[in-house]
Amino acid sequence: MSINSTSSKGSNKLENILVIGNGGRENSLAWAFQKNELVKKIYLIPGNAGSERINKCERIKIDINNNNALIEKLDLLKIDLIVIGPEIPLANGLADFLRKNNYKVFGPGKEGAKLESSKSWAKEFMRDANIPTAKFWKVNSLEEAAKIILSSPMPLVVKADGLASGKGVFIPDSKDECLRATESIFNGKFGNSGNVVVLEEKIQGPEVSVFALCDGKKYILLPTAQDHKRLNEKDTGPNTGGMGAYSPAPLITHDYLDKIIQDIIEPTINELNRKNIDYKGVIYFGLMITKSGPKVIEYNCRFGDPECQTIMPLMDPNFVFLLEKCSMGNLTGKEKINTSNNVSGCVIATSKGYPHEYKTGFPIKIGKVDSNGCQIFDSGTSLSKNGELLTDGGRVLSIVCQDKNFDMVFDKAYKNLKEISFEGIYFRNDIGHQVRKNYSMEI
Ligand code: AMP
Ligand code: GLY
Repeated sequence: MSINSTSSKGSNKLENILVIGNGGRENSLAWAFQKNELVKKIYLIPGNAGSERINKCERIKIDINNNNALIEKLDLLKIDLIVIGPEIPLANGLADFLRKNNYKVFGPGKEGAKLESSKSWAKEFMRDANIPTAKFWKVNSLEEAAKIILSSPMPLVVKADGLASGKGVFIPDSKDECLRATESIFNGKFGNSGNVVVLEEKIQGPEVSVFALCDGKKYILLPTAQDHKRLNEKDTGPNTGGMGAYSPAPLITHDYLDKIIQDIIEPTINELNRKNIDYKGVIYFGLMITKSGPKVIEYNCRFGDPECQTIMPLMDPNFVFLLEKCSMGNLTGKEKINTSNNVSGCVIATSKGYPHEYKTGFPIKIGKVDSNGCQIFDSGTSLSKNGELLTDGGRVLSIVCQDKNFDMVFDKAYKNLKEISFEGIYFRNDIGHQVRKNYSMEI
């Protein structure tokens, strides 16, 4: 893979990188970038307390919505590549604005981000391109929804159309619950994100996350991953942003991945092109493997969290060049992603109460952790005035390990977790249960 590239700002370097976002995902990206010896400095806006523990990293305090101040700062720092982590700035068009100012950006513009920011838009997109997904109805009022819900022979899922921090999906057990969920969305539970509701056929099967790095025309795939969305063990309790993950997902064999590419990934890229959307960033395919084949549950316009923390340690130091190539529209589509032969797993430690209300500001104690093939990426932390590490989010720490097999990975992760404490710490003990031979659900 070529490592020479010309920045749209005129430099031949990839010395200074900016990562936008403040979670475990962004810290793991920064950590993957610092491995490349050509990278001199990684700035994070705003990052979190863990960012500065990462080699070459520095946090910048600036409001990303203050356009003039942002560009002034980026010019001053001579930023060569910008990677935007979260969906909200992407949906607000930050990538378009930065590109207009001649920056190389990894992250789709506002149009491409609609894959995530409007579920009805994404469903219509899939319908237009004949991409397998659950049946759906876009509705604008409770009356319209009630007709569909009451006459539906199959169970339905209810979704707020717009962004809702991962909380806008309801999986009701009855028609009555379905109606109540719809009503709560139309009554403003998610503000304008709930002006439109999408009702979907409820489908079944294991879920898998697939990530395609795109340069507008070409793409390459990262290793697959499986997330654990539910809060509690045995995959019960409310949905969360993700309680842990593992990669790669053995469920997806080579042949099955070919089917996913043919039925879902290529039609998605082709449809983006047909719609003249120049998508430079990652497309996250949230898939369900049903009896009738893979179906798209959702698209996201960003890396998954915690899938990103899980996958980044498997990447070689040239990973950052792939993102740069995407940002410049320079992928050949034949680049080999050199991944380690190891597998990786991540367990998330959360604040008590997450994904509902929780308190922050509790001191975090980290004892003697094994750092051999292990990382701790801060997901939601801050520093007190005297430098003590504090909880500062629902998801607090991502404990990630790599080894030859998943039993070794999760043994190390859970051993490290024993060394970590803060008031109300919560984590699932069964992350990776699908792939741990030494774990029994009955334990
Ligand atoms: P989303 O935010 O769209 O990823 O949805 C969150 C979770 O809800 C998914 O990971 C699935 O577990 C579940 N879900 C979403 N849509 C459906 C569906 N049509 N059928 C069954 N489960 C679904
Ligand atoms: N882990 C799921 C997500 O990032 O949406």
